[in-house]
Amino acid sequence: MSFDLTRVRADFPVLAREVNGEPLAYLDSAASAQKPQAVIDAESHFYANGYAAVHRGIHTLSAEATTAMEDVRIQAARFLNAASPEEIIFVKGTTEGINLVASSWGSRQLHAGDNILITGMEHHANIVPWQMLAERAGAEVRFIPLTGTGELDLSSLSTLIDSRTRMLAVTHVSNVLGTVNPVKELVARAKAAGVTTLIDGAQAVMHQQVDVQDLDCDFYVFSGHKIYGPTGIGILYGRKALLDEMPPWEGGGSMIATVSLTEGTRFAAAPWRFEAGTPNTGGIIALGAALSWVSALGLEVIHQREQALMRYALDKLSSVPDLVIYGPEARSGVIAFNLGQHHAYDVGSFLDRYGIAIRTGHHCAMPLMTHYGVPAMCRASFVLYNSEEEADRLAAGLTRIHRLLGG
Ligand SMILES: Cc1ncc(COP(=O)(O)O)c(C=O)c1O
Repeated sequence: MSFDLTRVRADFPVLAREVNGEPLAYLDSAASAQKPQAVIDAESHFYANGYAAVHRGIHTLSAEATTAMEDVRIQAARFLNAASPEEIIFVKGTTEGINLVASSWGSRQLHAGDNILITGMEHHANIVPWQMLAERAGAEVRFIPLTGTGELDLSSLSTLIDSRTRMLAVTHVSNVLGTVNPVKELVARAKAAGVTTLIDGAQAVMHQQVDVQDLDCDFYVFSGHKIYGPTGIGILYGRKALLDEMPPWEGGGSMIATVSLTEGTRFAAAPWRFEAGTPNTGGIIALGAALSWVSALGLEVIHQREQALMRYALDKLSSVPDLVIYGPEARSGVIAFNLGQHHAYDVGSFLDRYGIAIRTGHHCAMPLMTHYGVPAMCRASFVLYNSEEEADRLAAGLTRIHRLLGG
């Protein structure tokens, strides 16, 4: 299937609006992506025509809602090429998925003197839960350092992984630099040392096909809102054999087999054991619509288109005076930069006046800011609904700001 930008853009109603008298150039999709009409319709159709609480319901609407929800579990398993839908857990997002693993897996598998290995480019969501777990267990959090161009420096990996390493948790794609990490190789190295692996796919699943069996990872997690789905819903993939051994992390309704005041509780099987309480059924159904929408376009087609746009944008930005671009040449989804000595917030505010939405700040990656010795960066995201014209406007806007404010 070929890529038709006009048709793709027409699927996103918000892209037709103006901001500050200019057409909106939405370059902030790595923070959260806009929603196609199909996703908006799926959620509102559910609330208008079929809403009911799932599980346990004997009536028609409840049975329909339960089927719709469990169908998305099957769909998500296919999307990631998981071996079974029972390896798919519905979570609020990437953050909750990582906290679930740190809390549940970590409570049994991490002991005093053990260590967890992460990297110097992680989002706080893949740092803080491990630090909290390590603090509780008396364990250590280590990190793989970065090269100057923002890639993983693997030269010390064989000493970083030792006999006490229990977990390697690494981002598939950096949310700041766009670096695509060699996760398959990392998983293989970890596995050879008996280390469990988690991949944070928050910035990967919308840009490239992910196959968890091929990666051979133990956990893979992503958020619905970054792949054109709603907020408040995400997917945690977990290898079945591991999930079966993991204790629940939250107690409540829906995650039990039986509850007795005298004999205690027997828990449901995985994945339901990890889904206490009433789920975000509307969000799950709309996430299913988002995965269908992305799959209909095809991730290979999306990948080719986005890579071409990225090359175009990088080329355009190279003409902006005093622009420092961070990260490697080969990248996915985002371009992080600073304009001369100007604070990222000032640059972002000026761009907003021109109708251009970018993200500014530490991007929930303070250790990465420290690595580069800057308090903040600007970040422009380029995804399937962005255009060459928007890249031109970004470059022209930055050149104008440079003229107005100096270097
Ligand atoms: C790489 C990465 N990991 C984790 C997260 C956290 O995602 P969420 O806030 O949807 O849980 C993000 C969000 O920006 C991210 O980019």
